[in-house]
Amino acid sequence: MISDITAAQDAALADIAAAPSLEDVVVLTTRLSGKKGELAALKKRLGSLDSIDDRKAAGQAVNDAMAAVDAALAARRAELAQVEMASRVDAERLDLTEFVGRPTRGHAHLVTQAWERLEDVFVGLGFRVAEGPEVETDWHNFEALNMPVGHPARGEWDTLFVDHVPPGGEPGTTVLRTHTSPVQIRTMLEEEPPIYIVAPGRVFRRDTPDATHMPVFHQIEGLVIDRGITMADLAGTIEAFTQAYFGPGFHSRLRPSYFPFTEPSAEFDIQRPNGDWIELGGSGMVHPNVLRAGGLDPEVWSGFAFGFGIDRMAKERHGIEDIREMYADDIRFIEQF
Ligand code: PHE
Repeated sequence: MISDITAAQDAALADIAAAPSLEDVVVLTTRLSGKKGELAALKKRLGSLDSIDDRKAAGQAVNDAMAAVDAALAARRAELAQVEMASRVDAERLDLTEFVGRPTRGHAHLVTQAWERLEDVFVGLGFRVAEGPEVETDWHNFEALNMPVGHPARGEWDTLFVDHVPPGGEPGTTVLRTHTSPVQIRTMLEEEPPIYIVAPGRVFRRDTPDATHMPVFHQIEGLVIDRGITMADLAGTIEAFTQAYFGPGFHSRLRPSYFPFTEPSAEFDIQRPNGDWIELGGSGMVHPNVLRAGGLDPEVWSGFAFGFGIDRMAKERHGIEDIREMYADDIRFIEQF
């Protein structure tokens, strides 16, 4: 009897040690342990032993064997659980250091680079950065900028309208801002002068993309409102900006122009050290009607404003022929900057 028990125990322990997976341990547990297991069957045979001492000894041996088998099952279960967890962790591991070919380092988009540098330069000149919404009211985008409904200059901005009627408003009065100039109005309405802000942002026009136009592009607006501001302050600011942004060899000039929201108005150009002129943007003295729309008394306050394209700036700086290249996401183009 004792030898049967020992043999059964040894066989059980060997099977347990050899169990390759957790499922096999489950199968072994039903086979070896519990009331229907092989050792339980041996236990039932104890009654057939005649001597009490033999029965006692064999009973002890069966109990010890069952305890040993249960312990071995638990130990093997724990061991396999750990192995399976380790292999799962291994299989699901993401190697974030992996790269194909040579390592590359990304960088900000050319427009973002120009945008951030422009902010830095203007902040260095004493301006604060302001912003406004890309979806605008007709009032902020046109009317408050001295372009009432029907004003011919509205046609200069190929406007994209948004299918949204504001509460109590009229259909067709919500637009994607066509320029950053509405931020002038929002800033005047929100804060007391003196105001010295720049407002970079995304603007939209119904344009077909070509080498020099995109329907979505970026501008930076400047607005100064204070007492006694003159055209000389505008010219001086543009010149200081030109040298700070492009370098000491660069200069600027103002050329008479027309914008409904400035009077007088001027376009400004930048001269490269080689003598070439680049057209950059529009500017002028803030029109009295615009000051009034912004809640300011034109007898007390005066100011200048300017605005120009950020994409154009990046294009000029890097000598890019076709502005569409900047949005094509071609790695051969991107890697050059
Ligand atoms: N908003 C004008 C444009 O989009 C530029 C501008 C801004 C002109 C401020 C004058 C003053 O063309």
